[in-house]
Amino acid sequence: MTDRCNFRCRYCMPREVFGPDHAFLKRAALLSFEELTRVAGIFIGLGVRKIRITGGEPMLRSGLETLVETIARLEGLEDLSLTTNGSLLTLSRARALRRAGLRRLTVSLDALDDTTFRAMNDVDFPVAAVLEGIEAASAAGFAPAKINMVVRRGFNEHQVVPMADHFRGTGHILRFVEYMDVGATNGWRPEDVVPARDIVERIGREWPLEPVDPNYPGEVAKRFRYRDGAGEVGLIASVTQPFCGGCTRARLSAEGSVYTCLFASRGCDLRSALRAGATDEALVARIDSLWRRRDDRYSELRSRVRPGAAKIEMSYIGG
Ligand code: 5AD
Ligand code: SF4
Repeated sequence: MTDRCNFRCRYCMPREVFGPDHAFLKRAALLSFEELTRVAGIFIGLGVRKIRITGGEPMLRSGLETLVETIARLEGLEDLSLTTNGSLLTLSRARALRRAGLRRLTVSLDALDDTTFRAMNDVDFPVAAVLEGIEAASAAGFAPAKINMVVRRGFNEHQVVPMADHFRGTGHILRFVEYMDVGATNGWRPEDVVPARDIVERIGREWPLEPVDPNYPGEVAKRFRYRDGAGEVGLIASVTQPFCGGCTRARLSAEGSVYTCLFASRGCDLRSALRAGATDEALVARIDSLWRRRDDRYSELRSRVRPGAAKIEMSYIGG
């Protein structure tokens, strides 16, 4: 939806890079709602059944609810979800998104402790407001929601158990995400990653866990359930247990390029074609050939990739 965000999470949009002088995309560079709807329809025609709306922070894009309503009505779409930092998730907006046809919500939340949370978002945003956003989402009918926590060694790892404790028994599904080397600005180092295995162990020591089968083939999160029946957690172990072989995702950047991998350096520009009057057939052919040629498996090759290689930033493609 946008490359802008009101947070400056250090692992995604460090303020030294995304500061007051940073050139964000101009409005005209973003795909319009008409263009987004057309592209969504073409992808659905090619077999896509799930669409996830992301940013930057997607709730910053004005008129979002209108776009959701249009996309939700597209024939053939089975699932429509949104990933947000939760900072703008008031009850009225959550209700409007629900009415517009949004099916599911994922809220990013990296800590429960207010000081840690403010340091993670780096704009001094209070955790209480996001927790209220999660409440609002539940009240609007988005229960269970997914809660994503990116775990970073030495920053918020002490929040793993408190987060598990907080969301156990609420029905919401907490997912722990290994800190990834997306983009080229976050200064990622392998030692910053807390492996998913350690996270499961830390939680399991408090409340025994057992593995659960995936909900569907290609599910990226490994699932575990609490033996005492208090629900489940997920782990997204893209660094220590890459799942490239099962990945079926395509990402459309805010400026209309398609990326077949989170770690791609180049996208396929659809916007130029759209704006030059390409027919649906021409766009289908372009996407079809891109998808047939794709051989992305960055995470599986990670250790052999030259460090510092150009990579698209997460804030352009939304995770
Ligand atoms: N590693 C792991 N997750 C990340 N996210 C953003 N940058 C990274 C990174 N480098 C997460 C956000 C959000 C989702 C869209 O992606 O925290 O939950
Ligand atoms: Fe998919 Fe690329 Fe991630 Fe592998 S590294 S799972 S191909 S997005």
